[in-house]
Amino acid sequence: MSSQEAKASIKELTDKINYHTDLYYNQNKSEISDFEFDQLLKNLIDLENQFPDLKLPDSPTQRIGGSIAKEFENVVHQYPMLSLGNTYSKEELEDFDGRVAKGLGGEAYEYFCELKFDGVSISLIYEEGVLIKAITRGDGVRGDNVIANAKTIRTLPLRINGKKIPSRFEVRGEVFLSKEIFKQLNREQEDIGEDTYANARNTASGTLKMQDSAVVAKRKLDCYLYYLLGGNLKAATHEEAIHNIESWGFQVSPTYKKCSTIQEVLEYINLWENKRRELPLETDGVVIKINSLEQQQRLGATAKVPRWAISYKYKAESITTKLNGITYQVGRTGAVTPVAELEPVLLAGTTVKRASLHNANEIARLDLHIGDYVFVEKGGEIIPKVTGVDLARREKSSVAVTYIFSCPECKTALIRKEGEANHYCPNENGCPPQIKGRIEHFIQRKAMDIDSLGEQTIKQLFDLSLVKTPADLYDLKKENLLQLDKVKEKSAQNMLAGIEASKAAPFESVLFAIGIRFVGKTVAEKLAHYFKSMDQLSKATYEQLVEAPEVGEKIAASVVQFFQVSENLREVKRLTAAGLKMESDQKEPEEVSSKLIEKSFVISGTFENYERDQLKDIILANGGRILSGVSGKLDYLVAGESVGPSKLEKAEKLGVKIISISEFETMIKN
Ligand code: IVH
Repeated sequence: MSSQEAKASIKELTDKINYHTDLYYNQNKSEISDFEFDQLLKNLIDLENQFPDLKLPDSPTQRIGGSIAKEFENVVHQYPMLSLGNTYSKEELEDFDGRVAKGLGGEAYEYFCELKFDGVSISLIYEEGVLIKAITRGDGVRGDNVIANAKTIRTLPLRINGKKIPSRFEVRGEVFLSKEIFKQLNREQEDIGEDTYANARNTASGTLKMQDSAVVAKRKLDCYLYYLLGGNLKAATHEEAIHNIESWGFQVSPTYKKCSTIQEVLEYINLWENKRRELPLETDGVVIKINSLEQQQRLGATAKVPRWAISYKYKAESITTKLNGITYQVGRTGAVTPVAELEPVLLAGTTVKRASLHNANEIARLDLHIGDYVFVEKGGEIIPKVTGVDLARREKSSVAVTYIFSCPECKTALIRKEGEANHYCPNENGCPPQIKGRIEHFIQRKAMDIDSLGEQTIKQLFDLSLVKTPADLYDLKKENLLQLDKVKEKSAQNMLAGIEASKAAPFESVLFAIGIRFVGKTVAEKLAHYFKSMDQLSKATYEQLVEAPEVGEKIAASVVQFFQVSENLREVKRLTAAGLKMESDQKEPEEVSSKLIEKSFVISGTFENYERDQLKDIILANGGRILSGVSGKLDYLVAGESVGPSKLEKAEKLGVKIISISEFETMIKN
C-alpha cells in the first residue's frame, strides 16, 4: 500500500469509527456489533503501525490506550493551578461577599455557582483545536503530562472544530469515576477475589497516574470541565466562557447557576445539599465564582487562592455512637472483612448499625478499642464509615482490638499474603461461607443466571448437605427440593426448570461461573474467544496464556493453578457431563468488505426478500454507512414497496440517487 492510499484508508476508518463512537456514546444507538467495531479499530491500529507518520493526534485509537509511560513529562503550568479558600458556614460566606464588595469599590457584581466535584483536577491544553497536553495539578506550579491516559476519556474531545475557537487555550476540570462505574469496578473486584477500592476519588486519581493507558481505558474515567483560560477568549463573563466550552463539545455539568446576590447563592447551596446525592458523581460542596472576568482579574489572588472565588463545603453528616464489638465476614474467596457492630443510631435518614472496617490496617489506623465512642460518617458511598474515635470518652480499662487469628466460621488459621491487605481463610473446600459463596457466584445473572434459586435456597441446600459444589445443582431431584422450607410442587418445578435452562448459557458464562480467581466476566469472554473450549484452556501453558489478549501474568498463573487442582478438574468434568457448554459457539463475522466504503444509504419501504435490519447489516458489512434521513449528504436511497413519497420527493430534489433492491444487489456483487 502506498503512503497515499494508507492516508485515505486511515481517514475512512477514522470517520467510520468516530461516527459509530458518537452514535454509541452520545445517542445511545449502535449500528454495528462490538466485534465489527473492534475490527475497524484493529484495522486502523495496523495501518498506524505500518505508517507511524500518518498517525493523527486525535486518532480514535488513542481512546483505547496502549502506550506505556515509563515516566510522565513534567510540565510547568502556564497559569498556576491555584486551590480555593474553603468556608463551612454561611457567615464565612457573607464575609467573603463583604470582601468582594469592598474589593470592587461598590460596583455591581454577579456570582456564578457550580458544584464542587470530588475528583482530580486536570488542565487540558488545545492548540489549533487539537488536545496536545493534559497536565495534573502537581504542586500547582508544575504537574505531569498524562495525555495518553486523558485521551481514553470518551467524553473529552480530542479535536474540536469551529470558527470562533482560540488557536490556543486551556480548559480545566475534574476527572472522576462515576458512582455507577465505581460500584461496577468494585463488583468486578469482588467477582475475581481482589480487594475492593475504598473510594472513587482516590481510585480516579490512581487511575489517571497509571503507566499503562490500556488499563486506564478500561476504567472508564469521565470528566467535567469548569474553567477556560487563554489569551483571546472572546468572553466577558465566566458564564459566556462556560457556554462556549459547552458549544465546543466539552462536557459541563448542567448544575450551574448564575446568582445576583449572596442570598441567591445561599438558596443554591440549600437546594443542592440533598439533591446532589442524585447526581452521577460525588460532590462535596459548592464553588462560588465572580461572573465578570474583568472583575476576577481586578480582585486577583493571594499566593495560594483567588480572591474572586471560594468553596463552600457541605459538612459530612457525622454522628458519635458506641462500638459494641467487631464481627468478621468471610467471602467466597476466603477474604475476611471486619465489620463494626454499632449501637444503632439515626444518620442522614437511616438507622446505622454496622460499618465496614475494610481490613486489619484500618483497625490499627483507627486504634479501635471495644466500647469506644466512634465517629460515623456517611460520605458519598452508601455504606457508612468509621472515621475516628472520641478519645475523651474512652474508658481507661478498655483494650485495643486484636485481629482474629482463626476463621470465625471454620476455625482454620488465617493467612495474610505478602502485599495484600486482607486476611484469608485457606480452607477453600471446607469453609461454609466459601462454599455457599461459590454457588451464589455460579448462579448469578452474569454467570449461569439461575434466578429461580437465591441465597436462602442455597443456604438450605447446603445445610441439608444436598449441594456442596455447583455441579451438585444438576443432580437435584424434585423430592430433594420438596424438603426445603415453604417449597411446594410448583416452586420445585420452577427451580428445576431454571437449572435446566442454565445449560444453554454460553461457554464464556460457564467459564466465569466456575470462579477462577482473577477471571472476571470480561476476561472470561476473551479467554473463551481465544481458546475456544474448556479443554484447550485447561491444557494451555502459562506462556500460551500470557499471549492471549487481556491476560497478564497474574491471571495466567491463576488459570494454570486452577487446572492443577484435582477437585477443580473433577468439578469441570461433572459440569461437562451435566450438559453445560464447554465450547465457544461465537461465529467469526464475515469478512468486512469495502465495496460500499464512502457511500451512504437510507432504506425506505418494504422488500420481498429482506428484512430492513438485514439490509442494514449488509451495507455495514461492506463498509457503507446508514444515515437517519434524506439529506444533501446522502448518496443512495434504496426504495422498496410503498416507499415514503416525501422521502422520494426530497431525494429527487437534492439529486440523491434512488435505487431499487436489484440495483443494490448488483452493487454488492461487483
Ligand atoms: S474552579 C481558581 N470549579 O476544587 C479556581 N474547581 O479546592 C479554580 N473543583 O483544584 C478551580 N469542582 O480540583 C473549580 N466547579 C469547580 C470545581 C473545582 C471541583 C476542585 C478543583 C480545584 C479544587 C480547589
